[in-house]
Order: sequence, then C-alpha cells, then structure tokens
Amino acid sequence: MSGPVDPLELATAYQRSAVVAAACASGVADAIAGAPRPAEAVAAACGTSPRATRALLGGLVALGLAGRGPGGYALSADGAPLASDHPASVAGIVAKEWFFYQAWAGLPESVGDGHARIPPWRDRLAADPGRSLDFLRALDDLAARFGGELPALAGLEGPGRLLDVGGGAGSHAAALARAVPGLEATVLDLPAVEPVLRERHPELAFVPGDLDQPRFGRPPTERWDAVLLANILHDHPAGRCQAIVATAAGLLVPGGTLLVYEWVLDDDGDGPPAVALFDLMMLVENEGGAAWTAPQLTTWLAAAGLTAIETRHGAGPIAVLRATAP
Ligand SMILES: C[S@@+](CC[C@H](N)C(=O)[O-])C[C@H]1O[C@@H](n2cnc3c(N)ncnc32)[C@H](O)[C@@H]1O
Repeated sequence: MSGPVDPLELATAYQRSAVVAAACASGVADAIAGAPRPAEAVAAACGTSPRATRALLGGLVALGLAGRGPGGYALSADGAPLASDHPASVAGIVAKEWFFYQAWAGLPESVGDGHARIPPWRDRLAADPGRSLDFLRALDDLAARFGGELPALAGLEGPGRLLDVGGGAGSHAAALARAVPGLEATVLDLPAVEPVLRERHPELAFVPGDLDQPRFGRPPTERWDAVLLANILHDHPAGRCQAIVATAAGLLVPGGTLLVYEWVLDDDGDGPPAVALFDLMMLVENEGGAAWTAPQLTTWLAAAGLTAIETRHGAGPIAVLRATAP
C-alpha cells in the first residue's frame, strides 16, 4: 500500500461494506434505481422498517451511492450498478462479499488457530445449492469485468480441445473459445454445478468430474490438448495442489498445454496488496487454501514432469503459468 494509512479509518471500514450489502439485500437499491422515491415509499415497497430505511438511505447518500432530490432518493451514477437489473450489476458480487464478510469476522480466530471459518465447498454446495450457485454466478460476473487478460496470456493456438477443470460457470473456457479459432472448450465440475454452466455459457460442453478422483473421474484413454486450472489451486492445501497438478498433467496429449490462472503472491508474501488480502480470504474460506507464489506453483508443474514452464503476469493481480507436456 502507498500513501498515508489511518488505522481508525480502516477499523470502521466494515460499516461501508454493511451499508452496500444491506442496500442490495433489502431491495432498497432496486427500489431507488429508477425514478426518485421518498423514504416512506421505499420502505413500503421493500416491506422494511421506515426508520431503518430512512437511515440506510442516509448512509447511501453519505457514501455517494445515492442522492436526494425533490422527488426523494435515487441511486447516483456511481451507485447505479447496485441495482440487480443494471446491465453491469454488481448485486451478485455484493451478496457474495457479504457472505464472506461473515467469515472474515472470524479472522482473529483463524489467525489464532489457522483454520477456516466456514464449511468446505462440497458441504456448502450440498447444504445450500442456491447460494453456492449464486457464488459461481458472481465469479462469472467478476470474470466478465476482470478476466479479459487470460486469452492473451494463455497464448493458445487452435484448433484443439480444452478441458476447464473446476470451470464453474464456464467464464474462462468461454473467453478462450471465443478468442482461439477452432478451440472446443469443455467444463469439468461437480454434477450439481451443471445448471449454472447451462445458464451462463450454454455454448460450452459439460462433463461431470471430481478433483478427488483418479483422472478427475475421466476415462483412462481421454486426452486433451489443453487443460486449464483457473482459480482452483488457491482453494486447496499444498499437498493436494501437487496432486491436482499431476492429475491435470496426466490428462494432456504429448505437447499439450497446462494453464494455471491464479492470484499470484509476491515471493516475499507481502503483495501485491490485492493478493495479500486474497491470501487472508483463503485462510478464512478454505481449509489449507492460500494464494501461492510463482516459485511454489512452478515447483508443482515441474514435479508433474511438465517443461517450458513460464509465468506470464497481467496488469492486475492475476498471472498465468503455462507449461508443456513431454
Ligand atoms: C473458485 S471456483 C473457480 C471457478 C472457475 N474456474 C473460475 O475461475 O471462476 C472453484 C471451482 O472448483 C469446483 N470444485 C470444487 N471442488 C471440486 C471437486 N472436488 N471436483 C470438481 N470441481 C470442484 C467448484 O465447483 C468451482 O466451480
């Protein structure tokens, strides 16, 4: 981080997160997305407490996300994406962040005991598929905003067959398929994830699979020209990452390409700022998960017998590691 830092300003930053989350969750953001409305009308439309709604609207004005005119309150230009029907809506991302905020509230305990504060993904998916698929929709929204560098960094040349392992909503496979002529992209994920892939990227093929199974559950003869691990390795402990990379490498044809798309931590572990914070997200979210350094990722690729290993950094916190099967 550069510039002066005020610890007390940081200590109260949670209040701004809560205002944004409450505006989306209560329906207040949607209620003031069109024509201005008085506070009482917003409360009536949302079925919320008039006193609390008035306070929330004041908070939105204080943050510059809404304004008040003669007709009442309306989202400002900066606040407009809070509305769920805005073309670049962030409402799904806000809901995801609020879910994780509650895990972050346990960060002091995680620092003490080293454990995550929420159940593993597979348990969350079984217990609450609706929220879990919303999480994958939010990742797709984030990829649409920030994932644009992958095709250039990947440097794939078509035609060929790509397997996006743990591909979720299919954001990255879809971007590669759009960018590389003749590339046929398939998403592998847990069966319960298929509906979100069908909804967000129906142009892609889906195969059920499991990171915990030999060959991720795929048949012995199946081989792919390229395998993508996008935002997978940070969810898992180091020992498991090595096994996942080895399995992914074993699915490649000779000369095939393994791509690892990750939030890559500086070698000293202190930055870039977004990745240092993401590393803490992994601490509270995934047992044993972490943001890894490029040397650590490279070690796993080399241990899998891959060659020509390269790390390609984008302008943001994401990097792509690229390696070739012998
Ligand atoms: C952090 S998300 C990344 C999704 C996507 N690759 C992206 O970059 O947006 C992790 C993905 O791994 C999948 N996943 C988790 N455990 C899995 C398992 N045991 N087998 C297959 N996929 C799994 C999840 O369903 C989810 O789609």
